[in-house]
Amino acid sequence: MSSTWTPDSWRGLPIRQVPDYRNLEALQVVEDRLSQFPPLVFAGEARKLKRKLARVAEGKGFLLQGGDCAESFAEHNADNIRDFFRVFLQMAVVLTFAGGQPVVKIGRIAGQFAKPRSSDIEKQGDVELPSYRGDIINSIQFEDASRQPDPERQIMAYRQSAATLNLLRAFAQGGYANLEHVHRWTLSFVHDTPASDRYKAIAGRITEALGFMRACGINPDTAHQLRQTDFFTSHEALLLGYEQALTRVDSTSGDWYDTSGHMVWIGDRTRDPDHAHVEFCRGIKNPLGLKCGPSLDVDELLKLIDILDPENEAGRLTLIARFGADKVGVHLPAMVRAVQREGRKVVWSCDPMHGNTVKATSGYKTRPFEQVLSEVRSFMQVHQAEGTHAGGIHIEMTGKNVTECTGGAYAVSDDDLHDRYHTHCDPRLNADQALELAFLVAEELKKEQPDTVNDLLEGIEAAE
Ligand code: PEP
Ligand code: CO
Repeated sequence: MSSTWTPDSWRGLPIRQVPDYRNLEALQVVEDRLSQFPPLVFAGEARKLKRKLARVAEGKGFLLQGGDCAESFAEHNADNIRDFFRVFLQMAVVLTFAGGQPVVKIGRIAGQFAKPRSSDIEKQGDVELPSYRGDIINSIQFEDASRQPDPERQIMAYRQSAATLNLLRAFAQGGYANLEHVHRWTLSFVHDTPASDRYKAIAGRITEALGFMRACGINPDTAHQLRQTDFFTSHEALLLGYEQALTRVDSTSGDWYDTSGHMVWIGDRTRDPDHAHVEFCRGIKNPLGLKCGPSLDVDELLKLIDILDPENEAGRLTLIARFGADKVGVHLPAMVRAVQREGRKVVWSCDPMHGNTVKATSGYKTRPFEQVLSEVRSFMQVHQAEGTHAGGIHIEMTGKNVTECTGGAYAVSDDDLHDRYHTHCDPRLNADQALELAFLVAEELKKEQPDTVNDLLEGIEAAE
């Protein structure tokens, strides 16, 4: 790896998952245009996110990261964005209360378009075509012309990201994130869900806490923290030409920031230390994620940490464990120990989705809710055993009532999958499953929290 970094120093290196653009001149024209477009996010916002993640790395916060596996052009509308945001906020409130810690909210949204694929080719019957790589590259339609990578799609993805971000900013700052409203939505979820008894206690305590604050004069009219929130965006830094075009020097610090999103991550298929994706990401100052799957060994992880976070800055690097429910206990402890031994200040987050994808008998790709939950639980147990902080979760979810993952309180079965299976890539938790997951994670977080006033008082006395 060369020591001088430039936004295009990745170009000379080996690279995986690159679309086979036929018209390289047209690609160049698009990248040049994108490089003139306004940034989607500001460096100062990315720095703010890094500060918040630094608190998580110190054990004083929890990261909630989630959204579509792949955003699509067809499903770009206000209702989808609103429904996602609503469920996401509900999850955040439940987790904040249960963990007694601030929740850092990062969407997989406003840029999450490009997808790594296990094969370059998709075969249907006798026909072979290039695989679908996300709407920013080609179309999901199984036709020759649709599957050819089209650079113009990058412009469309940029514009969609800008519009999505615009609405998200309005929702986050303009009153939609009002804590009392968010909690009211959660109460109606708790009322309706078949698992309602389980969640009544937590929901009831949040109601009490809000009532107590209101009685003290703290309410959304008097405290801006109760009527607005910080929300950040993220996506996989996969299509490097696009990312490079949006990478700019920040005039305040003189540093390079990828302004396509606040945080970007390196996928499990493109994290080779000597390859292009790692080279690109090491030079931008945004907070970074690194997916850690079963094929990553401990030495390679330490090498990647050295490359991506040479200054050991808390908040710079989030390690996103995605081993699978049955493998997390095998791989994670050694990694956590090595990172501790080296004194590395990282956030540990759990992606319980990508290691738990199975093919249902109906032929659909799905994820059993129980497996998703089991991976989160094992992840938290490992951290408890190692004395480290289980810092967050990273999930694929939607605010819609889709049927893509099986299980949950409404018991979506294999036979139900065909009903509302809309994802462009991997199966997502639907709104009910996502909120249910938040409640179940909350139960785990609560175990780490002082439970009674006496415990609290003892904690305070001990600290004095
Ligand atoms: C993803 O997050 O959508 C993804 C492809 O994950 P991973 O790189 O962990 O397989
Ligand atoms: Co996915």
